[in-house]
Amino acid sequence: MEIIIVKDYEQMSQHAATLINQFVQDNPYATLGLATGHTPERTYKLLIEAHHDLHIDWTNITTFNLDEYIGLNPNSPHSYRAYMQEKLFKHLNIKPQNIHLPSITGDMAQNVINYEKSITNAGGINLQLLGIGQNGHIAFNEPGTDFETTTHVANLTPMTLSANNRYFKTPTDMPSKAITMGLKTIMQAQAIILLASGQDKATAVQQMIENEPSAKVPASILQNHNRVTVIVDQQAASKLKQVLR
Ligand code: F6R
Repeated sequence: MEIIIVKDYEQMSQHAATLINQFVQDNPYATLGLATGHTPERTYKLLIEAHHDLHIDWTNITTFNLDEYIGLNPNSPHSYRAYMQEKLFKHLNIKPQNIHLPSITGDMAQNVINYEKSITNAGGINLQLLGIGQNGHIAFNEPGTDFETTTHVANLTPMTLSANNRYFKTPTDMPSKAITMGLKTIMQAQAIILLASGQDKATAVQQMIENEPSAKVPASILQNHNRVTVIVDQQAASKLKQVLR
């Protein structure tokens, strides 16, 4: 793992956007894996600025999002599809047919198979962007998830529900299930960037980097990947014991 410690959220976002812009410029036909949540919001704004100001071209980029809530109306403003549309896609020249999120309508058993297949058919993910949950989850692979898991339906833990229900008008409207890429799916990406900011991520970051890889901390699986860049701000890095800070 390459670990980059920066001052704050803004610097983390600047660093991530620079890497992603460079990647898109160097690999105009790339497939990107994308995350939602608070962490990448500023990064996405910077990607939009670079698209406008530096003419970074997304015409031939394909994307796969990590996850989507189950049980929402597909047009719900709380869906991750709506999040991605508002915060990134509608501002870029990406083709709608190149955008992929797991389907939440119809037969879920079939949807998980189809999502995995569509990633394979696209030639796999070249660069995967990740956030991390306070409990060490990546995508919605909660603690206890087997490292061999591919795309599946996950039950969200009470910690994840309480971290994310602030985004819902009525907190109890937050679904308790999601369809998510699995840990194995994520590990098949050629390169991975994980972002973490803020004190509430410090324990998860410390365990991800310093614990023996184990299902207790799903993000610790990333230690077994040979091209991971972790960009963390000083608060998120504050519990690291190693001399990285
Ligand atoms: C989002 C996702 C989650 C988030 C994580 C952190 O697509 O897969 O794993 O990355 O829950 O969320 P934030 O960034 O809101 O703290």
